[in-house]
Amino acid sequence: MIASQRHLFDIPEDIAYLNCAYLGPLSNATVSAGRQAAGNKAHPWEIGSEDFFTDTEIARSLFARLINASDDDIAIVPAASYGVSVAARNLALAEGQSVVMLAEQFPSNVYAWREAARLAGARVVGVARPEHGDLTRAVLDAMDERTAIVSLPNCHWADGALLDLEGIGQRCRELGAGLVLDVTQSAGVLPLDVRLIQPDFLVAACYKWLLGPYSTGFLYAAPHRHDGMPIEFNWRGRLGSENFAGLVNYEDAYLPGARRFDVGECANFQSMPAVVAALRQILDWGVPEIAATLTARNADIAARAASLGLESLNARQRAGHFLGLRFAQGIPAGLLEELNKAGVYLSVRGDSLRITPHLYNNDADVDRLMHALEQLID
Ligand SMILES: Cc1ncc(COP(=O)(O)O)c(C=O)c1O
Repeated sequence: MIASQRHLFDIPEDIAYLNCAYLGPLSNATVSAGRQAAGNKAHPWEIGSEDFFTDTEIARSLFARLINASDDDIAIVPAASYGVSVAARNLALAEGQSVVMLAEQFPSNVYAWREAARLAGARVVGVARPEHGDLTRAVLDAMDERTAIVSLPNCHWADGALLDLEGIGQRCRELGAGLVLDVTQSAGVLPLDVRLIQPDFLVAACYKWLLGPYSTGFLYAAPHRHDGMPIEFNWRGRLGSENFAGLVNYEDAYLPGARRFDVGECANFQSMPAVVAALRQILDWGVPEIAATLTARNADIAARAASLGLESLNARQRAGHFLGLRFAQGIPAGLLEELNKAGVYLSVRGDSLRITPHLYNNDADVDRLMHALEQLID
């Protein structure tokens, strides 16, 4: 268990921020790295050609460690949608085949597939939460010989409903289907090993649970996808691009590994130092330790909410860092506004009140939340 890390963040004591699934706050160290990086461009003469490569390689390597990949497997992307588009460009889909996903999946992992299906004459299948509650079984039941691609999160973005990705990965291999994962809502807080799951592609935006800046993210491409086709063609992705004087000796070969999928201007020297600081902090804490701490935090909230008559998904069916509370009569009107007035910040997604803490939360935040809910329910 990790004690509250509130002292590393600029979050006032009278704010209970329980909304990491919306936007993760930057730590003080990440803000300092970002400020310094922003200042660097006031002196462009101090930015050397090597600076277009150094931090991106460090960030690539840190993210690789988080998911047990190799540095070569990682590309730098600006958004989850970008990574999903790379995957859609590189996975075959034919008439009559299907793409399997969850019903009400986050749109950045939906639209690229709808478009690919439209062009191919294929179908998109959205797996709804089954009565029996076992979402993994429902996904497996929806997969058959016509399934060409399965594109999923690790847990549902509305209430944290959890999938067994190892089992789904195995079934994909049996069927010869491609597996794409959007782990934006779990990277850094739920241990994940690409060597066990074996996805073709995996994407994560940095601005939630990785506590990094907006417009930054990572794409993992499995080694057998490294020779795929990027969705745009920038100067830096080519072999020898570090030789600025030779850039117009146009080069057909790409940089090694997944670097060909790096977004244009990925050096992003104003954000990349902040990304590096954020990833270092997550790795220092340790993903299993973060997971255990947030699981305990939410178990406590779930138990206290149950005594107020609020239901949540059974702990075995949801990711520990997520808690979706349901009101018997639906979400009361004006609930969020009232909670905000009490200094409590969380989200409503679908019919659940989504509670997503991180290590900056403390017991006083939970007391504040429970007190506000009690007042509202009375
Ligand atoms: C599951 C999931 N994926 C991705 C995103 C963000 O997508 P993008 O980076 O394309 O804006 C979100 C944002 O809420 C999300 O919940």
